[in-house]
Amino acid sequence: MLYAIGDLHLSLSSGKPMDVFGGAWEGYLDKIEKGLSALTEEDSLVLAGDTSWGMSLADALADFEFLERFPCKKLLLKGNHDYFWETAGKMERFFSAHNLNTFRILHNNAFIQDGVTVCGTRGWFYEEERGKAATPDTAHSAKMINREVLRLRVSLEAGAKLGGEPVVFLHYPPLYEGYRCDPLVSVLQEFKVRRCYFGHLHGPARARAIEGGYQGIDYRLISADHIGFMPVRV
Ligand SMILES: [Fe+2]
Repeated sequence: MLYAIGDLHLSLSSGKPMDVFGGAWEGYLDKIEKGLSALTEEDSLVLAGDTSWGMSLADALADFEFLERFPCKKLLLKGNHDYFWETAGKMERFFSAHNLNTFRILHNNAFIQDGVTVCGTRGWFYEEERGKAATPDTAHSAKMINREVLRLRVSLEAGAKLGGEPVVFLHYPPLYEGYRCDPLVSVLQEFKVRRCYFGHLHGPARARAIEGGYQGIDYRLISADHIGFMPVRV
């Protein structure tokens, strides 16, 4: 079966445990352990970004080793805090050198699990663009969004070759308090995506997420604290 969760924010060697935020984050490692223990080696788990605070692959190793203890296959998507992220080749070599055999990278590609075709990319946080005149910042943002649109398209094209129902995972919310990231949503509609999962929003910001059906697509926030640290079944 296919499951998903975002924003684990693991910090086993980088000294930034999320427990300091209190509330749902208190004892979060135990909660993650409990949530992931329910999955078996037959399952796949999409990790929808912000998996580790590690600043490099070496710095994130303890977090990967923690995750490796759970037998499910893990499909890693890039979040805005995944500073460890390298090229796919470098990451794959790192995983194999450290016997991290359950990790796959979801980046310009797609995977199929039980008839569900996993597609995705980081996305882009679009809200600062609204109503602003063009500046170097907005130009940068336009470039980033174009790149993400391209990555999403490449992933969905790879998914179409696999068949199955394309389900999209983004790190950033495509919809947020009354606006939508049109360039990405248009690609979702073009490929007839019916389900889209995203992360990134925590604590009070979760209230600004848009969830549920919108123009034929069902959106769902899967940041870890939002879903009680229990992976959701896709
Ligand atoms: Fe994030």
